[in-house]
Amino acid sequence: MAGQKLMRDRESEIKSFEESKAGVKGLVDAGIVKIPGMFIHERLGSDVNEDDSSINSVDKVPLVDLQGVNDEDGGRRRVKVIDQVNNACEKYGLFQIINHGIPLQVMDEVLDGIRAFHELDVEAKKQYYSREYDTKHFLYNSNFNLLQTQGPAAWRDTLTFIRGSSLPRPQELPPVCRDILMQYTTEMMKLGETIYGILSEALGLDRHYLKDIGCNDAIFCPCHYYPACPEPELTMGSTTHVDSGFITLLATNHIPGLQLLYQGNWIDVLPTHGSLVVNIGNLMQLISNNRFTAPLHRVLASKEGPRISVACIFRTHHYPENSARVYEPIKELLSEDNPAIYRPVTVKDIMSNKLSTYAGTTVGNSLNKFLL
Ligand code: OGA
Ligand code: NI
Repeated sequence: MAGQKLMRDRESEIKSFEESKAGVKGLVDAGIVKIPGMFIHERLGSDVNEDDSSINSVDKVPLVDLQGVNDEDGGRRRVKVIDQVNNACEKYGLFQIINHGIPLQVMDEVLDGIRAFHELDVEAKKQYYSREYDTKHFLYNSNFNLLQTQGPAAWRDTLTFIRGSSLPRPQELPPVCRDILMQYTTEMMKLGETIYGILSEALGLDRHYLKDIGCNDAIFCPCHYYPACPEPELTMGSTTHVDSGFITLLATNHIPGLQLLYQGNWIDVLPTHGSLVVNIGNLMQLISNNRFTAPLHRVLASKEGPRISVACIFRTHHYPENSARVYEPIKELLSEDNPAIYRPVTVKDIMSNKLSTYAGTTVGNSLNKFLL
């Protein structure tokens, strides 16, 4: 009985929240001091244990200095970086990079541009509020799976920019962040080429292999705004998940919150000005036949805010023109001792799986469905 009432409360809360088109930021602006039930994690029950008892601050995620990695005479440096990246990917699935060549100014500007969009008047933002991922290149909402999942919502709003082989028309993007999103994602694709070169060689493949099979072709770019939360211990900024692409390149402002699950412990991934986080996504796990695995991670809510992040998730979007793209374990990595463990899949398969599992039932390994 009590459970049914909670579910009814949740439904009506979600309905008015969705109709406001003002996101979590709208609740904060309205001056709430208690967070609505739809965001409370223990109360609605989450299948993932978001228990904080096992935080481990001793283990640190690896930091890789990319200085000189593409230099003509960078041979020895390059070999060292490839080794570091290989170890980081095999052990953690995640590492931070510095001296990656993206100008600090561009990183600051994109974070400022994302903040400026989320801080527009609700009336100006509303026109972009949408859940039509199938047709749009730019949209804004809160909790991409709010209407699919039965689980608690997370304390964040997100604008999403989708940059594929075809570029969006400029009018599709709001002026406050239009130019910088284009510039930033152009820079990310250049950096992507460097990272894929390193990853290809770490896998023992030709340097151009991953780029040539399309890993660097497109970016799905969620840009998050995590408002300061009056009761951060009751909710999450982002629930435990793995990312859905080949790799993710993540920039954040100075507010901490990102954590990585490593050997059963949560470890903090602390922001350093100008650094980027690189992590393996489940498409890379699939094509590498589990040589690199996609790590579970989450973002804590905080009394401090807003926390801003820009996640460049490298994958083609499930637009109709991409539906024929198939990904499968790379043949060159397979042998009698290492047979393919996954069947061929499309991005659409991966995404429909994600919508039903993300923040929901089986986050353990969202690729289980594709095992041979
Ligand atoms: C994501 C993500 C982390 C962050 O968008 O998939 O994990 O720091 N973001 O916002
Ligand atoms: Ni993520």
